[in-house]
Amino acid sequence: MAAPQCVLITGGAGYIGSHTVLQLLLGGYKTVVIDNFDNSSQVAINRVQELAGDHAVNLTFHKMDIRNKPALEKLFASTKFDAVMHFAGLKAVGESVQKPLMYYDNNVVGTLALLEVMDAHGCKKIVFSSSATVYGWPKEVPCTEEFPLSAANPYGRTKLMIEDIFRDIYASDSGWKIIMLRYFNPVGAHPSGHIGEDPLGTPNNLMPFVQQVAVGRLPALKVFGTNYSTKDGTGVRDYIHVADLANGHLAALRKLSDPQIGCEVYNLGTGKGTSVLEMVAAFEKMSGKKIPLIIAGRRPGDAEIVYASTEKAELELNWKAEYGIEEMCRDQWNWVNKNPYGYQTK
Ligand code: NAD
Ligand code: UD1
Repeated sequence: MAAPQCVLITGGAGYIGSHTVLQLLLGGYKTVVIDNFDNSSQVAINRVQELAGDHAVNLTFHKMDIRNKPALEKLFASTKFDAVMHFAGLKAVGESVQKPLMYYDNNVVGTLALLEVMDAHGCKKIVFSSSATVYGWPKEVPCTEEFPLSAANPYGRTKLMIEDIFRDIYASDSGWKIIMLRYFNPVGAHPSGHIGEDPLGTPNNLMPFVQQVAVGRLPALKVFGTNYSTKDGTGVRDYIHVADLANGHLAALRKLSDPQIGCEVYNLGTGKGTSVLEMVAAFEKMSGKKIPLIIAGRRPGDAEIVYASTEKAELELNWKAEYGIEEMCRDQWNWVNKNPYGYQTK
């Protein structure tokens, strides 16, 4: 029997990373997780270990910043990685407008440090967390991977820059195998309710905000815009269960063993558009909680309708999202009901 593959996961204590690490462990992979806990905590790692049961022996954790090249060097010198999954990064759009240097340093400089060390150690397989944000304000939907790319803020620009860096690296050295996954709107939590999204400060994204209203931490949800040309006037997005997203990463990892793969990009979404009001209604149904609404103006920079074309991922990764919005809301509620203050006790 072949030895299990060993995967380095950067940012593996975070929301999407922690769910993916758990799936990797359950899938029989050896995982080495690095995270600087900038937006996460040791508790997430402990919970993943608990959920992984006997497979937890295959998880090693190092508190480390990806910009710390000597530390990365040491890690790569002591462990042979078959592939890297690169989640580590800052992701708050508004903060990126206020602190662009911090975003370029963390996301772009951090990725360069990682890639230099990978290159030096001959580890040339990587799955990268990109975002649907690189489609900017799409002229039509569904968004296919061939759509023109643009960025509306420094966060989006870091994703676009990193995508370009990957394309350049591959053009210079076809020994690299690179998969960039453009996530649409990740929501939900592990069905156990033991791991989930735990944003620091007031949440910017819809469902983390809704979950805090549901447990009384925030009084009401502001609906940003009710006069869009959509079914009920509110913005439409492609929400995807984080468990489906995690499985998409395992599919991408398998794809990296395909001798044909070079540098590829795949959308990870459901292909379905859901409005803000539909999402709130689904959450109310699954939680039994009323979410008070305040009708507010449009949020600057918001697109009207964004959803994915899922054809390429279905065809080439053999992956398809399985969960619908009710399951997303059920699991989001289960997580916040059990952990109203996230990983903090209060
Ligand atoms: P998250 O903040 O929960 O996870 C990111 C993790 O990276 C955190 O644990 C953080 O502590 C860690 N980190 C940040 N900078 C680091 C550094 N320099 N060194 C080491 N660790 C570092 O975010 P998430 O939602 O899990 O997102 C993961 C990735 O997916 C990010 O790159 C994000 O931009 C991308 N993404 C997220 C979404 C979303 O809506 N959640 C959508 C599209 C793309
Ligand atoms: C946001 C980011 C985008 C990022 C994505 C996933 C902006 C401008 N864009 O996109 O770069 O890739 O998150 O992390 O921040 N809404 C409300 N009230 C709220 C919050 C949101 O009505 O309090 C609405 C929004 O107007 C939108 C929908 O809910 O129509 C989803 O918003 P959000 O969760 O922030 O995701 P995106 O807008 O897709």
